[in-house]
Amino acid sequence: MQNIWDELPKPYFVLAPMDDVTDTVFRRIVGDCAAPDVFFTEFVNVDGLQSPGRKRLLNRLQFTPKETPLIAQIWGKTPENYYKTAKELADGTFALESSNLEDTNFAGIDLNFGCPDKAVVKNGCCVALVNDRPLAQEIIQATKEGAGGKLPVSVKTRLGFNEVDYSWPEFLLEQDIAVLTMHGRTRKQMSKVPADWDAIGKVRELRDKLGVATHIVGNGDVMTRQQGLELATTHQLDGIMIGRGIFQDPYVFVSESPWHKMGALERLELYKKHVELFAETWGDTGRHVRVLNKFCKVYINDFPSAKHLREQLMNAQHTDELLQLLEQATKYEFTRA
Ligand SMILES: Cc1cc2nc3c(=O)[nH]c(=O)nc-3n(C[C@H](O)[C@H](O)[C@H](O)COP(=O)(O)O)c2cc1C
Repeated sequence: MQNIWDELPKPYFVLAPMDDVTDTVFRRIVGDCAAPDVFFTEFVNVDGLQSPGRKRLLNRLQFTPKETPLIAQIWGKTPENYYKTAKELADGTFALESSNLEDTNFAGIDLNFGCPDKAVVKNGCCVALVNDRPLAQEIIQATKEGAGGKLPVSVKTRLGFNEVDYSWPEFLLEQDIAVLTMHGRTRKQMSKVPADWDAIGKVRELRDKLGVATHIVGNGDVMTRQQGLELATTHQLDGIMIGRGIFQDPYVFVSESPWHKMGALERLELYKKHVELFAETWGDTGRHVRVLNKFCKVYINDFPSAKHLREQLMNAQHTDELLQLLEQATKYEFTRA
């Protein structure tokens, strides 16, 4: 098996999976600014993918060869559907169906054992698996069997459910997985407290003690590449995953980010590019234009009329309207420059 994780320079940097954020459009924007070493898809439900609703979910797996290596992140309840989904990811069925790609495939499969959402947990999925290890084991096993040795299988999770619980990462490290990404919080902590990097370091120590080859990737509150490098060195980690840091700096994956020196005009141009790509990819039906509101503050920030413009942009109902507003603002900034 070609294991992409073993080919990366260490410490490597990963763009975190973020629902309604890291779709094919935003991954291409990030890739053009400063690509991470690895991309993840948003999480996609295996039970949905193996149901008549499959078609509706395929946009979560849509990608282009520019966003590679790309790991498909899956979640769900039924081991059999993990098996079928992993098989179709490994043999290229999903790359073809979602993206019309024949020669480019996903580079791995990640299991979401970390989502703390109430409804998801109530259904016994994602981080609830901390409390159902027989099912967690069955899911890992089914996914590995489906992947058939063609794609590496990894897990992304939290430090525990109510409390930090090292028996959880220990259990996962015994499952022979390629990578364990530790988000340094418990389920109970949601995102309310700072990520516990010492605990992530302890998981790396546990890995060394067990003598397994699983990589340890740390995740939580990393805002710059430099900060990530320091954490990786301090805790001897194989990689660093960055999520919300991308909202503060789309160039977060380069060491000398130009972002804070970029003026209003350049930021407006980048948002315009993002909206144009969104319109071209999703039209006004594939994804709701509101999804773009999450990005508004990323680009429309740090210049005098930014707040007013953001309010206008966030009320837009169509990409045409957004583009018109951005065009006007660009002209205005251009004459001011
Ligand atoms: C809007 C949003 C959506 C997210 N969606 C996912 C997801 O689909 N899968 C997942 O494993 N984690 C998801 N996460 C969690 C992130 O991947 C990451 O673990 C978390 O944000 C902590 O890292 P950060 O401090 O670098 O953002 C999401 C987080 C945010 C803010």
